[in-house]
Amino acid sequence: MDQQNYIQVRNSKINYYKQVPLFYQPGTDSYVLYKPAGTSLTEMRISQQRHPLLYIQEEDRIVAIKELQTGFNNQIDQSITTGNAVSVKTSLCELVEETLNEPRSGTLKALPETVDSLITGYSQHPEILKSIALISFKDYTTAIHSVNVMALTLGFCFYSNFKMEKTRRLGLNALLHDVGKTEIPTTILKAPRKLTDHEFRIMKTHPTIGNVIIREKNKLGGDIALGALEHHEKLDGSGYPKGTRNISYVGQMLGIIDCYEALTNEDRPYRRAREPLEALKFLKDDVQTGKFNRGIFEKFCYSLI
Ligand SMILES: [Fe+2]
Ligand SMILES: [Fe+2]
Repeated sequence: MDQQNYIQVRNSKINYYKQVPLFYQPGTDSYVLYKPAGTSLTEMRISQQRHPLLYIQEEDRIVAIKELQTGFNNQIDQSITTGNAVSVKTSLCELVEETLNEPRSGTLKALPETVDSLITGYSQHPEILKSIALISFKDYTTAIHSVNVMALTLGFCFYSNFKMEKTRRLGLNALLHDVGKTEIPTTILKAPRKLTDHEFRIMKTHPTIGNVIIREKNKLGGDIALGALEHHEKLDGSGYPKGTRNISYVGQMLGIIDCYEALTNEDRPYRRAREPLEALKFLKDDVQTGKFNRGIFEKFCYSLI
Protein backbone atom coordinates (compact mmCIF):
# COMPACT_ATOMS: atom_id res chain seq x y z
CA MET A 1 0.00 0.00 0.00
CA ASP A 2 1.16 3.54 -0.70
CA GLN A 3 2.50 5.18 2.45
CA GLN A 4 1.41 8.62 1.25
CA ASN A 5 -2.22 7.66 1.63
CA TYR A 6 -1.90 7.62 5.42
CA ILE A 7 -1.24 10.46 7.83
CA GLN A 8 0.10 9.92 11.34
CA VAL A 9 -2.09 11.41 14.07
CA ARG A 10 -0.95 12.93 17.34
CA ASN A 11 -1.25 10.53 20.26
CA SER A 12 -2.49 13.18 22.66
CA LYS A 13 -5.66 13.80 20.61
CA ILE A 14 -6.55 10.24 19.61
CA ASN A 15 -9.59 10.17 21.90
CA TYR A 16 -11.18 12.93 19.74
CA TYR A 17 -11.56 10.60 16.75
CA LYS A 18 -14.85 8.76 16.51
CA GLN A 19 -16.16 8.73 12.94
CA VAL A 20 -12.70 8.39 11.46
CA PRO A 21 -11.19 4.89 11.32
CA LEU A 22 -7.64 4.61 12.67
CA PHE A 23 -4.92 2.36 11.31
CA TYR A 24 -1.56 1.10 12.52
CA GLN A 25 1.46 -0.06 10.64
CA PRO A 26 2.62 -3.58 11.58
CA GLY A 27 5.19 -3.70 8.77
CA THR A 28 7.00 -1.05 6.75
CA ASP A 29 4.57 -1.12 3.84
CA SER A 30 1.23 -2.21 5.23
CA TYR A 31 -1.51 -0.55 7.27
CA VAL A 32 -4.11 -2.46 9.27
CA LEU A 33 -7.40 -1.22 10.72
CA TYR A 34 -6.99 -0.53 14.45
CA LYS A 35 -10.26 1.24 15.29
CA PRO A 36 -13.31 1.08 13.01
CA ALA A 37 -15.42 4.14 12.15
CA GLY A 38 -18.04 5.07 14.71
CA THR A 39 -16.20 3.92 17.84
CA SER A 40 -13.72 5.77 19.99
CA LEU A 41 -10.64 4.43 21.69
CA THR A 42 -12.03 5.04 25.15
CA GLU A 43 -15.02 2.88 24.28
CA MET A 44 -12.58 0.19 23.28
CA ARG A 45 -10.94 0.58 26.68
CA ILE A 46 -7.48 0.98 25.30
CA SER A 47 -5.14 3.09 27.36
CA GLN A 48 -3.51 5.95 25.46
CA GLN A 49 -0.02 4.84 26.33
CA ARG A 50 -0.43 1.32 25.10
CA HIS A 51 -1.52 1.72 21.51
CA PRO A 52 0.89 1.84 18.57
CA LEU A 53 1.44 4.91 16.37
CA LEU A 54 -1.87 5.50 14.63
CA TYR A 55 -2.76 6.83 11.20
CA ILE A 56 -5.80 8.10 9.32
CA GLN A 57 -6.40 7.64 5.61
CA GLU A 58 -5.72 10.75 3.60
CA GLU A 59 -9.26 10.75 2.22
CA ASP A 60 -10.60 11.10 5.80
CA ARG A 61 -8.55 14.16 6.66
CA ILE A 62 -11.38 16.73 6.48
CA VAL A 63 -13.69 14.59 8.65
CA ALA A 64 -10.72 14.10 10.98
CA ILE A 65 -10.11 17.84 11.27
CA LYS A 66 -13.81 18.38 12.02
CA GLU A 67 -13.71 15.76 14.78
CA LEU A 68 -10.60 17.40 16.21
CA GLN A 69 -12.28 20.81 16.12
CA THR A 70 -15.30 19.43 18.02
CA GLY A 71 -12.94 17.87 20.58
CA PHE A 72 -11.00 21.11 21.01
CA ASN A 73 -14.18 23.20 21.26
CA ASN A 74 -15.47 20.89 24.02
CA GLN A 75 -12.12 21.06 25.78
CA ILE A 76 -12.14 24.88 25.59
CA ASP A 77 -15.66 25.00 27.10
CA GLN A 78 -14.55 22.72 29.91
CA SER A 79 -11.33 24.66 30.61
CA ILE A 80 -13.25 27.95 30.74
CA THR A 81 -15.65 26.43 33.28
CA THR A 82 -12.77 25.27 35.47
CA GLY A 83 -10.93 28.58 35.02
CA ASN A 84 -7.79 27.03 33.54
CA ALA A 85 -6.35 29.78 31.30
CA VAL A 86 -3.29 27.81 30.14
CA SER A 87 -5.47 24.91 29.05
CA VAL A 88 -7.85 27.30 27.22
CA LYS A 89 -4.95 28.84 25.35
CA THR A 90 -3.31 25.49 24.56
CA SER A 91 -6.53 24.07 23.10
CA LEU A 92 -7.23 27.30 21.22
CA CYS A 93 -3.80 27.31 19.59
CA GLU A 94 -4.02 23.61 18.70
CA LEU A 95 -7.49 24.12 17.24
CA VAL A 96 -6.33 27.04 15.09
CA GLU A 97 -3.16 25.17 14.07
CA GLU A 98 -5.20 22.17 12.84
CA THR A 99 -7.72 24.43 11.12
CA LEU A 100 -5.01 26.36 9.30
CA ASN A 101 -3.80 23.09 7.75
CA GLU A 102 -6.86 22.95 5.51
CA PRO A 103 -8.42 26.42 5.41
CA ARG A 104 -9.70 26.02 1.83
CA SER A 105 -11.82 22.99 2.71
CA GLY A 106 -14.54 24.76 4.67
CA THR A 107 -12.96 23.98 8.04
CA LEU A 108 -13.05 27.62 9.21
CA LYS A 109 -16.74 27.10 9.91
CA ALA A 110 -15.93 25.56 13.32
CA LEU A 111 -14.39 28.81 14.55
CA PRO A 112 -17.53 30.93 15.15
CA GLU A 113 -18.49 28.37 17.83
CA THR A 114 -15.08 28.86 19.46
CA VAL A 115 -15.43 32.65 19.55
CA ASP A 116 -18.95 32.25 21.00
CA SER A 117 -17.60 30.05 23.80
CA LEU A 118 -14.97 32.64 24.67
CA ILE A 119 -17.50 35.47 24.69
CA THR A 120 -19.86 33.49 26.93
CA GLY A 121 -16.94 32.43 29.12
CA TYR A 122 -15.82 36.02 29.54
CA SER A 123 -18.90 36.92 31.56
CA GLN A 124 -18.10 34.08 34.01
CA HIS A 125 -14.30 34.31 34.07
CA PRO A 126 -13.14 37.69 32.70
CA GLU A 127 -9.65 37.07 34.06
CA ILE A 128 -9.13 34.11 31.69
CA LEU A 129 -9.58 36.15 28.56
CA LYS A 130 -7.35 38.87 29.95
CA SER A 131 -4.57 36.39 30.55
CA ILE A 132 -4.82 34.48 27.26
CA ALA A 133 -2.78 37.05 25.33
CA LEU A 134 -0.19 37.17 28.12
CA ILE A 135 0.53 33.44 28.24
CA SER A 136 3.45 32.90 25.88
CA PHE A 137 4.60 29.71 24.21
CA LYS A 138 8.08 28.89 22.99
CA ASP A 139 7.35 28.86 19.26
CA TYR A 140 5.69 31.86 17.69
CA THR A 141 3.37 30.70 14.91
CA THR A 142 0.60 32.27 12.86
CA ALA A 143 -1.88 30.27 14.97
CA ILE A 144 -0.53 31.69 18.25
CA HIS A 145 -0.38 35.21 16.80
CA SER A 146 -4.00 34.87 15.60
CA VAL A 147 -5.21 33.64 19.00
CA ASN A 148 -3.41 36.53 20.73
CA VAL A 149 -4.85 39.12 18.32
CA MET A 150 -8.32 37.65 18.93
CA ALA A 151 -7.91 37.75 22.73
CA LEU A 152 -6.75 41.40 22.60
CA THR A 153 -9.63 42.22 20.25
CA LEU A 154 -12.22 40.65 22.56
CA GLY A 155 -10.71 42.60 25.46
CA PHE A 156 -11.04 45.79 23.38
CA CYS A 157 -14.68 44.93 22.55
CA PHE A 158 -15.59 44.26 26.20
CA TYR A 159 -13.89 47.47 27.30
CA SER A 160 -15.87 49.30 24.58
CA ASN A 161 -19.16 47.67 25.69
CA PHE A 162 -19.94 46.58 22.15
CA LYS A 163 -23.07 44.51 21.60
CA MET A 164 -22.66 40.73 21.53
CA GLU A 165 -23.10 40.41 17.75
CA LYS A 166 -20.51 43.10 17.01
CA THR A 167 -18.06 41.53 19.48
CA ARG A 168 -18.58 38.15 17.84
CA ARG A 169 -17.92 39.56 14.35
CA LEU A 170 -14.81 41.48 15.39
CA GLY A 171 -13.45 38.46 17.29
CA LEU A 172 -13.86 36.24 14.24
CA ASN A 173 -12.28 38.86 12.00
CA ALA A 174 -9.31 38.92 14.38
CA LEU A 175 -8.92 35.14 14.55
CA LEU A 176 -8.97 34.87 10.75
CA HIS A 177 -7.06 38.01 9.79
CA ASP A 178 -3.88 36.17 8.73
CA VAL A 179 -5.45 33.03 7.24
CA GLY A 180 -3.94 34.05 3.88
CA LYS A 181 -0.47 33.42 5.34
CA THR A 182 -1.16 29.67 5.03
CA GLU A 183 -0.31 30.09 1.34
CA ILE A 184 2.87 32.13 1.80
CA PRO A 185 6.04 29.96 1.67
CA THR A 186 7.51 29.20 5.12
CA THR A 187 10.91 30.40 3.90
CA ILE A 188 9.39 33.88 3.62
CA LEU A 189 7.23 33.68 6.78
CA LYS A 190 10.15 32.54 8.91
CA ALA A 191 12.98 34.41 7.17
CA PRO A 192 15.53 35.24 9.91
CA ARG A 193 16.19 38.64 8.32
CA LYS A 194 14.38 41.50 6.61
CA LEU A 195 12.55 40.40 3.48
CA THR A 196 13.88 41.26 0.01
CA ASP A 197 11.64 43.39 -2.23
CA HIS A 198 10.57 40.30 -4.13
CA GLU A 199 9.75 38.36 -0.94
CA PHE A 200 7.85 41.33 0.49
CA ARG A 201 5.76 41.51 -2.71
CA ILE A 202 4.76 37.87 -2.12
CA MET A 203 4.07 38.53 1.58
CA LYS A 204 1.80 41.42 0.61
CA THR A 205 -0.58 39.02 -1.16
CA HIS A 206 -1.76 37.42 2.12
CA PRO A 207 -4.67 39.86 2.74
CA THR A 208 -6.16 39.18 -0.70
CA ILE A 209 -5.65 35.41 -0.37
CA GLY A 210 -7.29 35.51 3.09
CA ASN A 211 -10.27 37.37 1.67
CA VAL A 212 -10.78 34.63 -0.95
CA ILE A 213 -10.37 31.79 1.59
CA ILE A 214 -12.92 33.30 4.00
CA ARG A 215 -15.52 34.43 1.46
CA GLU A 216 -15.31 31.93 -1.36
CA LYS A 217 -13.93 28.79 0.22
CA ASN A 218 -15.69 29.00 3.59
CA LYS A 219 -18.69 31.22 2.74
CA LEU A 220 -18.30 33.11 6.02
CA GLY A 221 -19.39 36.43 4.53
CA GLY A 222 -17.70 39.61 3.39
CA ASP A 223 -17.98 41.26 6.83
CA ILE A 224 -15.87 38.45 8.35
CA ALA A 225 -13.28 38.83 5.57
CA LEU A 226 -12.85 42.61 5.90
CA GLY A 227 -10.26 42.33 8.67
CA ALA A 228 -8.17 39.93 6.57
CA LEU A 229 -8.41 42.21 3.57
CA GLU A 230 -7.69 45.54 5.27
CA HIS A 231 -5.51 44.96 8.35
CA HIS A 232 -2.36 46.20 6.59
CA GLU A 233 -3.97 49.30 5.08
CA LYS A 234 -2.97 52.67 6.61
CA LEU A 235 -5.05 55.86 6.87
CA ASP A 236 -2.38 57.85 4.98
CA GLY A 237 -2.62 55.43 2.03
CA SER A 238 0.82 53.85 2.66
CA GLY A 239 -0.52 50.36 3.40
CA TYR A 240 -1.37 47.33 1.27
CA PRO A 241 -2.85 45.58 -0.70
CA LYS A 242 -4.81 48.52 -2.15
CA GLY A 243 -3.10 51.51 -0.56
CA THR A 244 -6.56 52.90 0.21
CA ARG A 245 -7.30 55.59 2.84
CA ASN A 246 -10.87 54.42 3.07
CA ILE A 247 -10.62 51.64 5.67
CA SER A 248 -13.47 49.91 7.54
CA TYR A 249 -13.66 50.12 11.35
CA VAL A 250 -12.53 46.50 11.74
CA GLY A 251 -9.64 47.09 9.33
CA GLN A 252 -8.46 50.11 11.36
CA MET A 253 -8.88 48.35 14.70
CA LEU A 254 -7.05 45.20 13.58
CA GLY A 255 -4.27 47.27 12.02
CA ILE A 256 -3.44 48.60 15.50
CA ILE A 257 -3.97 45.38 17.49
CA ASP A 258 -2.11 43.22 14.94
CA CYS A 259 0.87 45.56 15.03
CA TYR A 260 0.89 45.71 18.84
CA GLU A 261 0.76 41.92 19.15
CA ALA A 262 3.59 41.37 16.66
CA LEU A 263 5.75 44.08 18.28
CA THR A 264 5.34 42.61 21.77
CA ASN A 265 5.63 38.91 20.89
CA GLU A 266 7.57 38.38 17.70
CA ASP A 267 11.23 37.91 18.50
CA ARG A 268 13.30 37.89 15.34
CA PRO A 269 17.08 37.57 15.02
CA TYR A 270 17.18 41.11 13.65
CA ARG A 271 14.60 42.57 16.02
CA ARG A 272 13.76 41.77 19.62
CA ALA A 273 10.21 41.74 21.00
CA ARG A 274 9.32 45.02 22.70
CA GLU A 275 7.85 45.73 26.11
CA PRO A 276 4.14 46.79 25.99
CA LEU A 277 4.84 50.44 26.79
CA GLU A 278 7.60 50.66 24.21
CA ALA A 279 5.30 49.07 21.60
CA LEU A 280 2.54 51.57 22.41
CA LYS A 281 5.01 54.47 21.98
CA PHE A 282 5.96 53.01 18.61
CA LEU A 283 2.29 52.86 17.60
CA LYS A 284 1.69 56.39 18.90
CA ASP A 285 4.24 57.65 16.38
CA ASP A 286 2.16 56.03 13.65
CA VAL A 287 -0.94 57.73 15.06
CA GLN A 288 0.85 61.07 14.93
CA THR A 289 1.92 60.60 11.31
CA GLY A 290 -1.66 59.79 10.35
CA LYS A 291 -1.36 56.05 9.80
CA PHE A 292 -3.64 54.89 12.64
CA ASN A 293 -6.91 56.19 14.08
CA ARG A 294 -6.28 58.12 17.32
CA GLY A 295 -9.61 57.29 18.98
CA ILE A 296 -9.25 53.55 18.42
CA PHE A 297 -5.62 53.64 19.56
CA GLU A 298 -6.48 55.42 22.81
CA LYS A 299 -9.34 53.05 23.53
CA PHE A 300 -7.04 50.10 22.86
CA CYS A 301 -4.49 51.46 25.36
CA TYR A 302 -7.18 51.67 28.07
CA SER A 303 -8.45 48.18 27.22
CA LEU A 304 -5.03 46.75 28.11
CA ILE A 305 -5.18 47.96 31.72
FE1 LIG B 1 -1.13 40.19 8.24
FE1 LIG C 1 -1.23 39.52 11.75
